[in-house]
Amino acid sequence: MHYRIGVIKGDGIGPEIVNEAIRVLDKVAEIYQHEFTYTELLMGGCSIDAYGVPLTEETIQACRESDAVLMGSIGGNTTTSPWYQLPPELRPEAGLLKLRKSLNLFANLRPCVLYPELRGACTLREEISRNGFDMLIMRELTGGLYFGERKTEPVDGVMTAVDTLRYNENEIRRIAVKAFEVAMKRKKKVTSVDKANVLDSSRLWRKIVTETAKDYPEVTLEHALVDSTAMQIVKNPAQFDVMVTENMFGDILSDEAAMVTGSLGMLPSASLNETKFGLYEPSGGSAPDIAGKNIANPIAAILSAAMLLRYSLDLQTEADAVEKAVQKVLQENYRTADIMSENCQQVSCSEMGSLIAERI
Ligand code: IPM
Ligand code: MN
Repeated sequence: MHYRIGVIKGDGIGPEIVNEAIRVLDKVAEIYQHEFTYTELLMGGCSIDAYGVPLTEETIQACRESDAVLMGSIGGNTTTSPWYQLPPELRPEAGLLKLRKSLNLFANLRPCVLYPELRGACTLREEISRNGFDMLIMRELTGGLYFGERKTEPVDGVMTAVDTLRYNENEIRRIAVKAFEVAMKRKKKVTSVDKANVLDSSRLWRKIVTETAKDYPEVTLEHALVDSTAMQIVKNPAQFDVMVTENMFGDILSDEAAMVTGSLGMLPSASLNETKFGLYEPSGGSAPDIAGKNIANPIAAILSAAMLLRYSLDLQTEADAVEKAVQKVLQENYRTADIMSENCQQVSCSEMGSLIAERI
């Protein structure tokens, strides 16, 4: 089969990790006889440098014409990069937010798995990490604080900034449905995370999630407050299966959960709408401090490519093959610097990509 894949390498370590994901996809194409055509697109800082804006209409259109988009990461050092001297709507992150909104990618799936081989890299004590964990954060991605009205202006002579956290019931219901649907294919437990002891938006969230749960009697629903959840993730991560939460809570909790798996460099993500189309990107950032050194961990990008095969192209066998190849390389004790531990062999970003591709 022939598939069109948009490729946004982006900034920082983005290009180097995406190159490795493409190396793996090319191997998949060769072994399973598919044809992937890649269209390289600019977004983020590199688009600012080329066109003066972080996202062009042409890039959005090209994404629409693709079966799926594979992305690296965008943005730079927020204190030193000239991109952050620009007005907020022209900065790299604004491009990503606009792309998510334009393509209606409201559901962001962030699987956090502690591989048995990486227990040593887990930041938690052995008695916690030995239980392992496998959770999926379902982050709402096109509403909430990141998309509400915002402004900074003097009020009675005092400079004042406002951000708005807004959700309507339809936005909550559609992400809740996604969470229950995926829970049905997993351990049938949903933890809905909110701040219902303070926020109106959270009280509506809780009400709608509870209503939605009635259609999924086999799934156990639990409500939890976001502050307490942050604590539980480091205390007992094995208790979670699917966690569904609003945009900002999900942004924060997914970095925390990712780190608990050993490294942000291990975590893929899929951003989906109501169609088969998806945008696939590592959960971590552009890591400008290590960019261009060939030491970044490409596994999150490679696992994002596996999610792309699974969710947008319906190629389950191929997705399994990529995930198994990653596991194999870890079993053989190859590690990039971020997950390095005793008695392992440290390899570069490109070596890791080749090792994984060879095992497909
Ligand atoms: C992420 C990133 C983005 C977000 C930034 C770059 C806008 O942190 O994908 O988690 O906050 O969603
Ligand atoms: Mn984030």
